[in-house]
Amino acid sequence: MRPEPRPGLMDIVPYKPGKAGEPKEGRKIYKLSSNESGLGPAPAAMNAFAETTPILEYYPDGSAAPLKAALAGLHGLPAENLFIGAGSDEIIALLIRAYAGEGASIVQTRHGFSYYWLAAKAAGSEPLFAEETDLHADVDKILATVAENTKLVFLANPNNPTGTVIPASEIRRLREELPEHVILVLDGAYAEYMEDESYTDGADLVAESIADGTENVVMMRTFSKIYGLGGLRVGWCYAPRAMIEVLDRIRSPFNVNAPALAAAEAAVGDQDFVKRNREHNRRERDRVRQRVAGWGFGIVPSHANFLLLHMRGDSPEARAEEAAEFLAFLEKEGVMVRAVGGAWLPEHVRVSIGSEEANDAFLRAAEAFVEGRVQ
Ligand SMILES: Cc1ncc(COP(=O)(O)O)c(C=O)c1O
Repeated sequence: MRPEPRPGLMDIVPYKPGKAGEPKEGRKIYKLSSNESGLGPAPAAMNAFAETTPILEYYPDGSAAPLKAALAGLHGLPAENLFIGAGSDEIIALLIRAYAGEGASIVQTRHGFSYYWLAAKAAGSEPLFAEETDLHADVDKILATVAENTKLVFLANPNNPTGTVIPASEIRRLREELPEHVILVLDGAYAEYMEDESYTDGADLVAESIADGTENVVMMRTFSKIYGLGGLRVGWCYAPRAMIEVLDRIRSPFNVNAPALAAAEAAVGDQDFVKRNREHNRRERDRVRQRVAGWGFGIVPSHANFLLLHMRGDSPEARAEEAAEFLAFLEKEGVMVRAVGGAWLPEHVRVSIGSEEANDAFLRAAEAFVEGRVQ
């Protein structure tokens, strides 16, 4: 008899990454399926990465002290309250392992980021889904979903794959009305794209939870989006000291590799790039949105580096069918976008905002699709 994994593990559907496409002769592939940077990696990060090649025999600095210091300086946060992970994905998994685990539950919104519930299942925890209102997180519904055994609530703001944002006042209300023993994890993967003055990434609530002794808020960020370092896997969080000490006990000793640490540290120092990327994203998102809206697709108001398109048919079935046809057609044209049926959005398609060239390729292919030039 072959060895069996823990019960429940084989029920997990492996995370489906955005398609990268099969390169075919003479055809360029445009990957707009994983919300990656529209301007590539931060140039300073590429240089720092290259400089690590002669020292690859050494283990990385397990404490990640220089990167923490750089982040602390940029964001005005205490370095001792920062934790660096191999992508924020690792931090999600560690938080669930540490604070939920077998027999516990976590809460996320219906169309929230899928790795929250996948990581929960991997740890033997039950994911509970709070329904949304018009594709926006709804604080009352989140609060009503929290169960006796709920240990963590995950909320991405802006959310992926919807791109929607809820106001800071609502997030504050969520924190105030959650039972004190439930940890609120605020995921700011797309925070750098926000231009609204009243937006906060949640760092203020983490600080308050430290000051008032509740110590129950975490704010997560990533280098995979605006910094353009998805391939290196670096994320971080700001959390109460007690939580950092827990995460440090259960992470692997050298969880983030040396080139990734060096590149991320350099990227923090390249805020001009971040600004350029934010401006590029706003400009290109507006351009793509206007063209796509002109073809009759519904567009969910996005605050991030992607657009969620609602197909045009007059029934859910017709819209789901058009989504499948649209995805297949774009793929044939070498433009990879994201199916979001797995996030309970079968009538939608998510398109990342890429370089001007990639966005042009998407618009060209989408225009051919709507004009019926489909073979
Ligand atoms: C909301 C959200 N959180 C976390 C992540 C994971 O990011 P990372 O690459 O840092 O693991 C993503 C990636 O798509 C995301 O959209």
